Amino acid sequence: MPYYRAVGEVPAKRHLRGAFEELVGEEGFSGASSLLYHRNSPSALLAVDALESGRPALQPNHPLSPRHLQTAKLADTADPVTGRHILAGTPTCTLAWWSGGAGTSPLYRDATGDTLAYLQQGTMRLETAFGHLALSPGDYAVIPAGAVHRFVSTGPASLLLIEAHGGHVDIPARYLTAGGQLREGAPYSERDIRAPRPSSGARLRGPVEVLVRTRAGLTRHVMAHHPFDVVGWDGCAYPWAINILDFEPVTGRIHQPPPVHQTFQGPRFVVCSFVPRPYDFEPGALKIPYHHANVDSDEVLFYSRGDFMSRAGAGINAGSMTLHPAGFTHGPQPGALERSASQDGTEEVAVMIDTFDPLGLSEPARQAEDPTYWGSWAS
Ligand SMILES: [Fe+2]
Repeated sequence: MPYYRAVGEVPAKRHLRGAFEELVGEEGFSGASSLLYHRNSPSALLAVDALESGRPALQPNHPLSPRHLQTAKLADTADPVTGRHILAGTPTCTLAWWSGGAGTSPLYRDATGDTLAYLQQGTMRLETAFGHLALSPGDYAVIPAGAVHRFVSTGPASLLLIEAHGGHVDIPARYLTAGGQLREGAPYSERDIRAPRPSSGARLRGPVEVLVRTRAGLTRHVMAHHPFDVVGWDGCAYPWAINILDFEPVTGRIHQPPPVHQTFQGPRFVVCSFVPRPYDFEPGALKIPYHHANVDSDEVLFYSRGDFMSRAGAGINAGSMTLHPAGFTHGPQPGALERSASQDGTEEVAVMIDTFDPLGLSEPARQAEDPTYWGSWAS
């Protein structure tokens, strides 16, 4: 939850007659919330239709194997709402990929939880009732549950999408003071957080279609009025963005474990950012990850850009996504430790998602898989 903001025309007191007030609140009326002021009723529903879910079934990772998914093998599609490729998931987290060209997605509302979007390539504009976020490569965008939004791209672009179900994507609690400010020593600060810029949505007219995802599937709502017809809002629940390079890395005399890279917490998953940094400075320090068995979690690493020395020789490139599941011990590629000895730092940029339930895999994920990856440590 970022901090309080007020944008546009907001009455001096709450809950008085005037514009159509909409409270967007988490955890009932007990969590973070915002008040939006619409020109028209946000509830005027004209039609309701069930749509095909478009979501593939997920199969257990059986026989248990480390996986390498090559997102370049996945086809471009029209938009990130209807065309995202569902790759893997748990009951509380879905991982998806989208790539495509210029276009505007349908209006979309995910009622199952927050979405964390990571822009790998291109520029995009995330439009919402709160205003818009201009996204560049390396940007994370947190889209709150229930926030109607659409993606606008002006050219080739690609996105990693991390969907939370039954919970929210938040700043890790240990980074915050009791009052909610980012602590001194946290790896990012309020200045790094970007809130939506005001848009001219107040002039938009209905009726419009909004696609709504729930655990039951996908529904099309036809709304009499455009959900972006907002003249102002205030509160602490809103879409926000931060660039991965605004994450300040922590290094040490010897190797620091992945929790120092944590950027977000979600329901039964965490997200970490690996950014350019000097290596550990103790002579003789192991500069890249030692072999490790994460006995309680499945570990996904999305390789965004730079060199990936610990995985050199395994066919990993920008756009690769690896899954190292619980029950498998993983570590550096043969020869990587020796190669790292003369290196002073790394230029890698990567996003890690650790889930605390086993990830199931979709058929599109299996089609994008490098079938030889599991043997790469033996080569
Ligand atoms: Fe790992």
